[in-house]
Amino acid sequence: MDKKLTLLNTKREEAFLGGGKTRIDQQHKKGKLTARERLHFLLDEGSFEEIGMFVSHRSTDFGMQYEKYPGDGVITGYGTVNGRLVYVFSQDFTVFGGSLSETHAEKICKIMDMALKNGAPLIGLNDSGGARIQEGVVSLGGYADIFYKNTMASGVIPQLSAIMGPCAGGAVYSPAITDFILMVEQTSYMFVTGPNVVKTVTHEEVTSEELGGAATHATKSGVTHFACANEIEAIQHLKKLLSYVPQNCEEQAPAEPYEIGDEKRLKLNEMMPENANQPYDVREIITEVIDSESFLEVHKDFAENIVVGFARLAGRSIGIVANQPAFLAGVLDIHASTKAARFVRFCDAFNIPILVFEDVPGFLPGTDQEWNAIITNGAKLLYAFCEATVPRITVITRKAYGGAYDVMNSKHIGADMNYAWPTAEIAVMGAKGAAEIIFKKEISTAENPEEKWLEKEKEYSDIFANPYRAAERGFIDEVIEPAETRVKLIKAFKMLENKVVNNPRKKHGNIPL
Ligand code: COA
Repeated sequence: MDKKLTLLNTKREEAFLGGGKTRIDQQHKKGKLTARERLHFLLDEGSFEEIGMFVSHRSTDFGMQYEKYPGDGVITGYGTVNGRLVYVFSQDFTVFGGSLSETHAEKICKIMDMALKNGAPLIGLNDSGGARIQEGVVSLGGYADIFYKNTMASGVIPQLSAIMGPCAGGAVYSPAITDFILMVEQTSYMFVTGPNVVKTVTHEEVTSEELGGAATHATKSGVTHFACANEIEAIQHLKKLLSYVPQNCEEQAPAEPYEIGDEKRLKLNEMMPENANQPYDVREIITEVIDSESFLEVHKDFAENIVVGFARLAGRSIGIVANQPAFLAGVLDIHASTKAARFVRFCDAFNIPILVFEDVPGFLPGTDQEWNAIITNGAKLLYAFCEATVPRITVITRKAYGGAYDVMNSKHIGADMNYAWPTAEIAVMGAKGAAEIIFKKEISTAENPEEKWLEKEKEYSDIFANPYRAAERGFIDEVIEPAETRVKLIKAFKMLENKVVNNPRKKHGNIPL
């Protein structure tokens, strides 16, 4: 027995060393952790159970039969994060650059199947040179198997991808299908084709970091939801993100214990600027309304005219979507619409109630927006809200103009409760523009057109620059003092706790993609 145990231990030690000490040192020199170190920081101490430690590749081309490493470049298994079960795979760059072989893919697929069967989140820690070049098409097949399983698991279990090294070519599409991507600044990149191919095809000179680094994807493309300063920060973000989401689509997100006390927030009465065109940071309102320090902003630096993220309200997890008047006046454009639509769909898929703060002057005009299909993209957000069956509440703080009023979780498209602050203006457009159109003749023929315009602007504004016309119709359930917002929301979300809505049966809808 002793001999057998020694053999087992020797084999385990070999597996723990991955591609060997030299390559581990190289990994560290790049400022990166190893695949096992990442798991150590992610999972609760002692909770990791590895599956497939001794799996190795079956390739015989190019002398590969003489170069085998137990585990074949990916560590897979399960463990817990803050006591909750998760399935993980962590690619080991020290073994063939973390490249994906047939067996490497099989290991990932096995874990994915288990996560789906047992209803727990899947976390992928990606650090890979892509398809195992020595294996050719079988590794491409392996990617496709993963994409298929990612898609089948989408909306059933949360899938999170942290990119901690290269992620190029076909490798990008697994993370892209998952719910959230986190990238590490300077040490990770994602692109379909790298700088060399770009140079050959388009003659552009661009570095990896510029083309597909964390900052690029966090600001320009929106591919990543979080850009983290280092790997430890990325792992902390992963854990935080998990704390807001349920294990699967049949469950509720975990709630933290909360005792209701004095929930009035008088500061909210002072937050709206006197001048309706003055910007303010909607995050200040969010912070005041939610449980203290509970906001986890998603896509913070992308499409900043809309703010989305998770928070807690009286201990319960909620998703927030808020127009941001501090950026482009909070207007809806293509990126803001797609960003918010995807977030709404995630919340809806995983039973997370949605809270909307609305202050929106409309959609962004211009050829750039029209030619790039603001119509189709704006419709994504509209569609996402329309089909969401989770509890949905809107608070209109100021402007709710035009089609954007309808889109931003209006009562008409299924919101459960709509509140307005007394500063709300619910109209087809701003009073100035409205007066110019409907009183055009009167203004142009007036003795003093400028004065007439102001007079008509005031007339329109007196009628519509308030929440009462909408409240008369029941489009607004209640006009509330801002200080009462938190109390009202806590009560209303509690009241909606057992909401059941069944949309018509169908194979699937046809969201305007
Ligand atoms: N298949 C097989 N082995 C690979 C690999 C792949 N796709 N990518 C990297 N490796 C191996 C390298 O041969 C090297 O092996 P070694 O340690 O035995 O020398 C090791 O992984 C590390 O790669 P290296 O190139 O030294 O690391 P780097 O940090 O300088 O560069 C990459 C990383 C990913 C930029 C580079 O390895 C690369 O371009 N890989 C190919 C990417 C690609 O085209 N993939 C296929 C398309 S999906």
